[in-house]
Amino acid sequence: MKIGNVQIQGKVVLAPLAGITDTSFRLLCRFFGAALVFTEMISADGLVRGNTNTLRYLFFQQSERPLGIQIFGSDPEILAKGAVSAAQQKPDMIDINLACPVRKVVKRNAGAALLRDLKLVEKIFRAVVQAVQIPVTIKIRSGWSRESIVAVDVATMAQECGISAVTVHPRTQQMQFSGKADWDLIAQVKEAVAIPVIGSGDITSPLDAANMFNQTGCDAVMIGRASLGQPWIFHHTNHFLKTNELLPQPSLHERFEAALKHTHSALQEKGELLGIRAMRKHLLWYTKGLRESAQLRKNISILETIVDVENLFQEYMQKAHAEVVA
Ligand SMILES: Cc1cc2nc3c(=O)[nH]c(=O)nc-3n(C[C@H](O)[C@H](O)[C@H](O)COP(=O)(O)O)c2cc1C
Repeated sequence: MKIGNVQIQGKVVLAPLAGITDTSFRLLCRFFGAALVFTEMISADGLVRGNTNTLRYLFFQQSERPLGIQIFGSDPEILAKGAVSAAQQKPDMIDINLACPVRKVVKRNAGAALLRDLKLVEKIFRAVVQAVQIPVTIKIRSGWSRESIVAVDVATMAQECGISAVTVHPRTQQMQFSGKADWDLIAQVKEAVAIPVIGSGDITSPLDAANMFNQTGCDAVMIGRASLGQPWIFHHTNHFLKTNELLPQPSLHERFEAALKHTHSALQEKGELLGIRAMRKHLLWYTKGLRESAQLRKNISILETIVDVENLFQEYMQKAHAEVVA
């Protein structure tokens, strides 16, 4: 798949996930074979105001490439300026969010709220494409509600305005994350445009990814929630798409190894205190479904240092080993 002039090696992409897809997680997903990663959504307003908290989200490492910086907002001029600010970091692309359904965002007329006003959307697309030299992509939902499904119209207009790729998460704003993503709509968008179409929504396994390709003809698939606590899903999915063979779930040792790699990287990014705090939710995901999960959850909630994390894993493995031997 080629997005503008950027060649993407592979067809399985990491979704932008607010509060989750920071540098350390993106690096890990790239390590496991994600073909393209996105930052979480970043406020164009905050970028234009030079808000230090917002600017922090622009940071990425060279080894994360190819990477898109995702911005959100509602004013064409501010989004264009925000894109220019983001482009100074030299990402591979800028992605505009027309997908976020959460109240805090839609009440400012941003995210999925934009899908109610296609005239405004056209202005946004033209302004951002004109403002930066790198490819501009978009991420959309189906529409605002069941009565106003606009994905095909928006994707067609996007192509006319010079947008280089479109990701479709085929749920309406009103569905939030309930119900099922309507993959038929991804197929309809793919039929309607020549630019690459990335399908997003409800991929939980390599088999789901293959099914989405078969059912929609999309150019790439995006994985979000299923990567939490199992970033190896990118490797497993790439392998399955190539060979039709399902890899076994990782061993306890491999699972902890990935979690530790992630933790070390988070520490490098944020320092020990903030790094470990940011990792607690990930560690819960990494250990989901393991035996004695109630005790594990309790132990994870009080971790403070990298040594605590290493000890927790070591003790758990020793105990698991002792049980197998006994
Ligand atoms: C916690 C969370 C945060 C998200 N943050 C973003 C975001 O910042 N930008 C965006 O375009 N989509 C965001 N999404 C939507 C995902 O990118 C994705 O489209 C959606 O979760 C469906 O894919 P999945 O079933 O693979 O998770 C978020 C989803 C979740 C669950």
